[in-house]
Order: sequence, then C-alpha cells, then structure tokens
Amino acid sequence: MSREQLKKELEARLDRSKMPTHIGIIMDGNGRWAKNLGKSRLKGHQQGARGIKAIIRYANAIGIKHVSLYAFSVENWSRPAFEVYALMKLLKTYLIQQRNELHEEGVVFRLVGRRDNLPAEIIKEAEISTKLMQNNTGLNLNLCFNYGGRAEIVDAVKKIVQSGISPDKITEETIRQNLYWPEIPDVDLMIRTSGEMRTSNFHLWRCAYSELYFTPVFWPDFDEAELLNAILAFQGRERRFGLTSAQLGSQES
Ligand code: FPP
Repeated sequence: MSREQLKKELEARLDRSKMPTHIGIIMDGNGRWAKNLGKSRLKGHQQGARGIKAIIRYANAIGIKHVSLYAFSVENWSRPAFEVYALMKLLKTYLIQQRNELHEEGVVFRLVGRRDNLPAEIIKEAEISTKLMQNNTGLNLNLCFNYGGRAEIVDAVKKIVQSGISPDKITEETIRQNLYWPEIPDVDLMIRTSGEMRTSNFHLWRCAYSELYFTPVFWPDFDEAELLNAILAFQGRERRFGLTSAQLGSQES
C-alpha cells in the first residue's frame, strides 16, 4: 500500500469530534537519520526543516488548532558551535522562505522561548512573520526555539514577583497568564519521534495532562500517515484528568 493510500485509510478512521486542540512535537532523530544514510548531521536538520511544511499544512487541513514544534532547546547551546550556527541559519531561512506560504494557508505564527540571547536578525524575522499572520484564523504554529520548560516557568515567576502581587493571590492561573504566550492552550497530545521516551523539558506547564505518544520513526521520515497514527492513538485513550472512569461516564450521560 502506498503512503498516500495508507493516509486515506487512516484519515477515514479519524473521529472529528475528538481531535486534539494542541499537538506538541519533539522533532528528534535528525542526526541518526543522516548517519544511517552516510550524510552529515546538518543534512539531517535540513531534511527535518523541509518536512515541517507538509505536517503543518496537513494538520491545518484536518482542523488542528495548535502545533508546537521543539526546534531548539535552551540546552542545545551546548552542541558543537557549527551545529548551533547551522540551526540558527536554518531558522532564519525557514522564517523568510516559508512566510508567505504559511500566511496563504491562514497560519498564525509565534516564536516561543527566551529572546535575550537570540541573534537580533532572528527576532526581527520572527516578528515580521508574527505580524503578517496575526489576523489569520487557521492553525497556530508555535515554533519553540531557545525554549526550555523550566526557563519558561522561571521567567514567569520573575514577571509575577516584579508585578508586586501578594503571594496569597497567586494561583495556577497567575502562572499560566505569565507564560511566554498565555494564549497557547495546554498540550493534548505530545509526540516524540526517534524512539526516545522523554519529554526533555518541553512545555512543562502545559503538559500536565498531555497524552504521550512515542514513535521509533526519525523526524525526517515523519509524514502525514505518522501524524494520523499518533492522533488515532490519542483518540483511543481515556483522558481522566484525575477523575475515575465511572465519574467520566456519569458526566457524559
Ligand atoms: C533533534 O535531533 C533535533 C533538534 C535538536 C533540532 C530540531 C530541528 C529541526 C527539525 C530543524 C530545524 C528547523 C527549524 C525550523 C529551525 P538530533 O539532532 O538530536 O538527532 P539525534 O538524536 O539523532 O542526534
């Protein structure tokens, strides 16, 4: 069966009333994908960046409202300098080359993460994209770059302390309102490619009740059919949010 036929078959099984609102993706395995083909790690990242377009376009087409992509973590600065440089360059190219197409598809764009140590040209290009797409109503692409879940919470706490709020007034909502982009909802489905089974400091606050999905497929090979497999697995789970199955049953009736 071709990938296209498989995609059609999987798509027919989707329950449109149980779609995840927000999918987070840890795009892992670029390096191993490249190594297996005798290519450099950078080729792996390039192929990984190329694959983003099809996934975003398809997620938008099937009605997913938010996709967060983990493209560079605060810990990734410790990688070899040439790789860090290549990832920065790749992001800049991606922002410039994909901007109009994403806009035409109705996508809303955000760069999510710490900004203070990112190159100014990246901030500038990201802001151009965000502004261009700000009135769109399609999928929200949250590109997490120089992102760390703990760093995000630390930065939120700093803002809260600076606001002078009294400690007894602080609630979970106060924290949520001070995350990088408060309008990004909790993650419903968290996908990690390449067989690793960790969440690696991604979206810590918003992942409290995420369903986790791990696939051995390397990110450059992750296509629409793989995304559908993940969504179908999600639809087969019972999300209880701390309640019992019986309680959920009585809520539904
Ligand atoms: C993990 O694979 C991947 C990353 C650290 C970077 C993810 C980046 C991309 C998909 C491309 C960049 C996209 C943009 C838009 C900038 P790894 O290198 O850790 O793979 P490995 O575990 O097999 O070595």
